[in-house]
Amino acid sequence: MTIAQLIYASEASTEPRAKVEEILVTARARNKQLQLTGYLCFRSDMFLQVLEGAPASVSAVYASIANDRRHSHVVLLGYEKVVKRRFSRWAMGYVADLGDAQSILFNYSGQNEFEPYGMDHTSAIEFLSEVASVGAGGTIVREPA
Ligand SMILES: Cc1cc2nc3c(=O)[nH]c(=O)nc-3n(C[C@H](O)[C@H](O)[C@H](O)COP(=O)(O)O)c2cc1C
Repeated sequence: MTIAQLIYASEASTEPRAKVEEILVTARARNKQLQLTGYLCFRSDMFLQVLEGAPASVSAVYASIANDRRHSHVVLLGYEKVVKRRFSRWAMGYVADLGDAQSILFNYSGQNEFEPYGMDHTSAIEFLSEVASVGAGGTIVREPA
């Protein structure tokens, strides 16, 4: 089976964080149905999200996301066929701010700033994998059991 991995960055519309958590409820339900996995980071009013799964499902959900008015300037950072999932534990993991995971950002940016538009596919995947693996970041909304 082919696994597609898609990563994009965007800017949040003027939505408070609570609304992001609403997005997650829909996202996780639909992703579970489509067997999509991934991770979402929200910081400095910007999103960085990875989606992985069957190519047709990844494309369908990305089409919805790209048209969602809760964010804008949606920029595709990468789309690749990969041998295996990197975020199989999460229908959509989520971290807001970075808290203790802030130091991870330092390794991926020149000035300790969250600049997702400047990331390429590989650096974005590695960054999100590290954030996901420490799981200790800022405000992490755990997946419902
Ligand atoms: C930042 C952000 C991330 C989102 N992530 C997902 C996601 O992972 N999966 C998903 O199904 N919908 C996600 N959504 C919601 C979709 O944009 C869309 O509202 C939802 O999939 C319902 O699609 P529909 O309106 O085409 O039926 C996200 C929205 C935003 C703003």
